[in-house]
Amino acid sequence: MNKNNSFSIKTLIVKSNNKYYKEKSHRKINIKEYIDEGSYGIVYRLDNGDVIKIFKNATLNSPSLKETNYLIPCINENRELIFYFQYKNGNKYIINLYAIGIIVDIYIDLNVEMNSYFIILPYCIPFYNIYNFWNVPLIENKSGIHFTVNVMKRLLQISKYLETKYEYVYLDFKLNNFMFSKESYDLEDLVMIDFSIIKKKVKNKRFDITKHYYLWPKGNNIILENIPAYSISINGLELLFGHNKLLDFPNIHQIQHFLKIIKSKNEDLYTIFNNSLNLKINTDNFLKLINAFIKKM
Ligand SMILES: Nc1ncnc2c1ncn2[C@@H]1O[C@H](COP(=O)(O)OP(=O)(O)O)[C@@H](O)[C@H]1O
Ligand SMILES: [Mg+2]
Repeated sequence: MNKNNSFSIKTLIVKSNNKYYKEKSHRKINIKEYIDEGSYGIVYRLDNGDVIKIFKNATLNSPSLKETNYLIPCINENRELIFYFQYKNGNKYIINLYAIGIIVDIYIDLNVEMNSYFIILPYCIPFYNIYNFWNVPLIENKSGIHFTVNVMKRLLQISKYLETKYEYVYLDFKLNNFMFSKESYDLEDLVMIDFSIIKKKVKNKRFDITKHYYLWPKGNNIILENIPAYSISINGLELLFGHNKLLDFPNIHQIQHFLKIIKSKNEDLYTIFNNSLNLKINTDNFLKLINAFIKKM
C-alpha cells in the first residue's frame, strides 16, 4: 500500500467494546494513513481518528492462539491477541480496546493475509512527543532525577496491575510501548499499548536468556518476576544518560560504569538501581523502594 493513500477494507468485527463497532457484524473500515510498523503489527490511523493494528502473524487459519512455554513467542504465536480476548477496559493502566476483528477480503498491496486479525484502539501520543527528553541526560539535575524516578514508578504501577490482575509479566518495557492516552503531561495518563511480549506468570519460574535485547538481562536461571524491575531500570538509565548512550546491548561493564556515576550523585538512587540491575527485586518490592525514595526527595 502506498503509505499516504487512504483506502477501505472489509472486515468482520469479532469482539467489541465500542458502539461504533458492532459485534458479529461485517463492516467496511476506512484507513487514512500509515503510522508505524513494529515486529508484530502494522499500525494505521482510521478516518474516524481511531487506530488499527493489523497483525502480521495471526490469522483465522493459524492454530496459534495458545501460549507456548518459551519466553519469546513463536513466529505464529500471538500473545497480544490472547491477552486482548480476555482483557476488560475501564482501568487507568492499559489502553482501551475498542474492537477485535478479521480482514475478510484479499488486499494484495496491504501485505497481510486474508483472515488476518486486527485490533482497534484509541489514538495515543508518543512519550517523547510530550516530553522532549530524547538524549537529554537527566542525571545532571535534581528535577531530572525526580522525573526519571516518577516515570519508573508509573511503569512499575502498570506492571503491578498486569501482574496482579491478569498474572502476566511484561518483557518489553521500551518507552514507545507506553503512550499518553490524551494530550497531557500527567504521568497517570501514560498507558501500556503493546502486549506482544508477555509471559504468563509462574511463581519462581527461571529462564536462560541468551538473546541480545537491550531491555533484558543476559544469563542463566533468571527469575521471570525480577525482569520487569531490571527492564524498567534500563528505561531509567535511558532517561538519566540519554538514549544514545544505551544503543548497544548494555553489558555488565557498561552497567557498572553507570552505577558508579549514579553512586557519586546520589547514594539512595544507587541503592535502587543496584537492586534492580542485579536482578534482586520483583515489581512489588521495587515499587515500595521507589515510593520511599520519592517521599524522601
Ligand atoms: N494507539 C496508538 N496510537 C498511536 N500510535 C500507535 C498506537 N498503537 C501503536 N502505535 C504506533 O505503532 C508502533 C507499533 O505498535 P506496537 O503496538 O508497539 O506494535 P509491535 O507489537 O509490532 O511493536 C508504536 O510504537 C507506535 O508508534
Ligand atoms: Mg511495540
